[in-house]
Amino acid sequence: MPERETLMTTIVGLGGSLRRASFNAGLLRAAAGLMPQGATLDVHRIGGVPLYDGDVEERDGIPPAVAAIKDALAAADALLIVTPEYNNGLPGVLKNAIDWMSRPTADAARVFAGKPVAVIGASLGGFGTLLAQEAWLPVFRYLKMRPWFDEALLVSKAGAKFDTAGDLTDAETRDKLRGFLAKFVAALADGAAGED
Ligand code: FNR
Repeated sequence: MPERETLMTTIVGLGGSLRRASFNAGLLRAAAGLMPQGATLDVHRIGGVPLYDGDVEERDGIPPAVAAIKDALAAADALLIVTPEYNNGLPGVLKNAIDWMSRPTADAARVFAGKPVAVIGASLGGFGTLLAQEAWLPVFRYLKMRPWFDEALLVSKAGAKFDTAGDLTDAETRDKLRGFLAKFVAALADGAAGED
C-alpha cells in the first residue's frame, strides 16, 4: 500500500454559532461522525475566544484559547468552516476567532497560508448560507488559503432538517454531507485541494 494511504488526514472544524441547539454546530457534529475512514475532524469550540482587542493583544499576547486553535490548524491538513448566514453575510463570532488566529501577522502564514479550506452551512432561509459562504472568500484570499470548490453543501430550511437539540436528522442531507467529506478528503490525499 502506498505510504500516503496509511497516513491519517486531520481536518480542523470550526463552527460559527454559539447557540446551544445551533444547526451549524449540529452540522459540524454530524460531519465529525461521517468522516471517511482514515480521516478525522478535530472540532474546536470558539466560545472561549474573547472579542479581538489590539490593546489586549499588546498587553497579554494571544489568548490561550486562540493559541490552541492556531496550533491545531497549523498541524492539520485542512480547515472546514461551518457557517451560519447573518444578514446575508458571515457571522461575526467566527470572523472574530479567525481575526485573532491571524495575529500576530508574522505568524499568520504558519497557520493559514496554502491551507485547503472548505465551507458549508445551514440556514433557516431558502438559500442555505450561499451568501455567507461567498462572504468568506475574501478572507480566505487575504490569508492565502486554498478554498476547495469542487462540491458545495448548502443546507436550506434547516428547521425541518435538525431536531430541537440541533442534531441533523434529515437522511438526504446526511448522505450529501458524507459525500462532500469523502470528496474533500480524497482531494486532500491526491493533492488536488491545495498541496504544491
Ligand atoms: C439570521 N438568519 C438568517 N438566515 C438566512 O437564511 N439569511 C440571513 O441573512 C439571515 N440573517 C440572520 C441574521 C441574524 C442576526 C440572525 C440571528 C439570524 C437566520 C439564521 O439562519 C438562523 O438564526 C440560524 O438558526 C442560525 O444558525 P445556527 O445558530 O442555528 O447555527
